[in-house]
This record gives sequence, C-alpha cells and structure tokens, in this order.
Amino acid sequence: MTKPITVELGERSYDVHIGASLLDTAGERIASLVGKTARGRPLPVVTDTNVAALHYPRLAKSLEKAGLSPAPIVLPAGEQTKSFAYLEQLIDALLALETERGGLILAFGGGVIGDLVGFAAGVLKRGIAFAQLPTTLLAQVDSSVGGKTAINTARGKNLVGVFHQPRIVLADIGTLGTLPKRELLGGYAEVAKYGLLGDADFFSWLEQHGTAALSGDEQAMTHAVSHSVAMKAAIVVRDEREQGDRALLNLGHTFGHALEAATTYSDLTHGEAVALGCVLAFKLSARLGLCPQQDVARVAAHLDKAGFRTQLADVCGPPSPDVLLSFMHQDKKTKAGRLTFILARGIGKAFISNDVEEEEVLKLLEDEDE
Ligand SMILES: NC(=O)c1ccc[n+]([C@@H]2O[C@H](COP(=O)([O-])OP(=O)(O)OC[C@H]3O[C@@H](n4cnc5c(N)ncnc54)[C@H](O)[C@@H]3O)[C@@H](O)[C@H]2O)c1
Ligand SMILES: [Zn+2]
Repeated sequence: MTKPITVELGERSYDVHIGASLLDTAGERIASLVGKTARGRPLPVVTDTNVAALHYPRLAKSLEKAGLSPAPIVLPAGEQTKSFAYLEQLIDALLALETERGGLILAFGGGVIGDLVGFAAGVLKRGIAFAQLPTTLLAQVDSSVGGKTAINTARGKNLVGVFHQPRIVLADIGTLGTLPKRELLGGYAEVAKYGLLGDADFFSWLEQHGTAALSGDEQAMTHAVSHSVAMKAAIVVRDEREQGDRALLNLGHTFGHALEAATTYSDLTHGEAVALGCVLAFKLSARLGLCPQQDVARVAAHLDKAGFRTQLADVCGPPSPDVLLSFMHQDKKTKAGRLTFILARGIGKAFISNDVEEEEVLKLLEDEDE
C-alpha cells in the first residue's frame, strides 16, 4: 500500500487509497465517512453481477466488522446498464432503502457502475455522498477519479451526467487478479497515455516494468496505478470542469472514439482503440514536423509489446479514412466544426490543438490504409 493521493478540491477534496488488500480494511475507512444518524441504517452497495460473485463477500465482511449493514444492489454487467432504464431502477432501489442526505452510497465495480452510481448519487435528493471502489484497471486509473459521471442515450455515450466528486476512492489492486486479460489490457492503454501525455520518465518506467504489471506483479501494478492517479489528480485539480488542460487526458481519443464507432463497438475495446489512437496522434505530430520519428517508433513498439494492435490495417474492416473523419466530426469534442487533437512534441509533451488541417489527417489515414 502506498501513501494516499489527495485530490485537492477545497471542501470537495478526497483521498485515493491504492493497495493490494484494501477491501479487507475498507469497513473502517467507510465507517468514518458515514454520518452518525446513518450508522444503523442499510448501507447501499451498488455492484454488478460479475463483481458481486467474485468480490462482494470480502467487502461485506469488512463492512460488517466495522458495524455497518451493507445492502447489496446488483445490476447486470455491461455498458447497457449505463442507461435511463437502470438509472430509474437504481434510484428506486435506493429510495426503497430510505437513503438519506447524511448517508453514503458505495459504487463497487468498473467504470459502468462508477459512472451510473455517481450520477444517481449526484441527482438523488439533490446530491448524496458516494464512494468509489473501482475493480477494473480502467476504473482505478481513470473513471473513479475526477468526478465525471454519466449515462448513455440512444444518441450517444455519456451525454447525460453531472460533476459529482466521490468522498473517497479505494482501489484494491488485488481485485484486478480476476479481471479478463482483455479488460486489463484496455485499462493499460490509459496508463500508457499518462506517460505519453505528460511524463517521459514514467513512460520509460513502463517500457521496463509494464509487462510485469500486466502479468500480475502487484508491486509494479501498484506503482503504475498510483502514478497514473497522481497525474490525473493533478490535472483535475488544475481544471475540474474541463475548460482547458483536462482535455489533455483525451490523447488518443479523437482517433480512438472514431475507431470504436466505425467498427460499431465490436472489434476494438475502448482501450484498444485509444492505444491505436495514441500511435496515430504521434504519427500525425511527426507528419506536422512537431515530434521526432524515433518517439513514434518507441510508442508503437511499447504498445505492440504490451499486446495492442498498432496499425490501422490490423483493425477488422478496416474503416476508410472518410468514414473515420466523419465519426470524428460527430464526436462531442468538436468546437465550431474544428476537430480538437491532442498532439505531442515528443513523449511526455502533449498539447491541445484546434488547428490541424483535415487534409493532413486524411493523408495520414490514407497512407495507413495502404
Ligand atoms: N467518468 C469518467 O471519467 C470515465 C473515464 C473513462 C471511462 N469511463 C466509463 O467507464 C466505462 C468503462 O469502464 P470499465 O472498462 O471498467 O467497464 P465495466 O464497468 O463494464 O467493466 C468491464 C467488465 O469487467 C467486469 N469486472 C469488473 N471488475 C472485475 C473484476 N475485478 N474481476 C472480473 N471482472 C470484473 C465487469 O463486470 C464488466 O463485465 C465506460 O462506460 C466509460 O464511458 C468514465
Ligand atoms: Zn479513455
């Protein structure tokens, strides 16, 4: 276990704890956050069917030991749970438990549970405190920190949500041991992204130890998660509501979202699309004369070694340059018709750009297509 990382947001500040057996001591930490009046009442623990079967008994034991009365609310696993229908079902279950303003709601699972529960907590009775207990690598390094919550609609992902910061984040690295390999790899794309966007030393460390972290070395994984969270926390503190710097976290995502959409969310996971998107963002930067070619080669080599597809030709289809460009325009991050790209002057030196000529993007994708 490492020192907790504090996300410094004034009265909304909170600690992120990262370590190998945190679930066993979660009870005490949670109990200290539950108001006196709420102590004897049921404590809602929202989770999905997979996480419930694998990890709920350990969490429940720890909560009970601390004098709390966990009340599990188990939802189906999968992205379709981030919907109005399940929001309604969840809110009804929380109201049935008579969840009050002084209470606390636990989100125990991956980013789907974290986003849905965070949103429900943000709007129920105009805001109830919640805790994030992330159990996927993606949720530990990305979605559980920063207070963005959302559900999807038929017109697009994450279109309905609020900013609602958690009161605490408890990331138990041990839970990653049961995560399917492809899910683990997907989260690793976001880990590598932090090195690529702002920390060349961390990227070098990943070149040395990344595969160990992915193969179950808990010490290496704890370092990778802690460093990622510290970087995300620093960016969120600078720009909580994404008016500037927070957009750096979208490195690889302009291409990534288009790749996911163009392959109808079936061939690539989000992380796989982001990994390929990072390679494309570095290639684009090199074409524009901003980034040395050898950095592009290092990015591609590392992501390839980790197990990602790093060329457009490897994608099923593969989608044509025009199709990809039209999906980029549909992404909600376009400003007044201009595409936003996160470019880099080298590994660890990313910046936000609104003035990339589409011609350059098309040429890059056409060359990739050959
Ligand atoms: N709020 C944010 O800032 C933010 C940032 C990035 C992504 N997101 C959102 O996060 C979501 C994706 O999160 P995700 O990748 O964690 O997906 P997920 O929550 O669907 O989890 C992936 C799968 O792993 C299973 N699982 C979870 N923990 C497990 C464990 N320890 N062992 C075995 N299986 C386990 C889940 O049941 C699910 O089947 C997306 O909806 C995305 O929009 C939000
Ligand atoms: Zn992402």
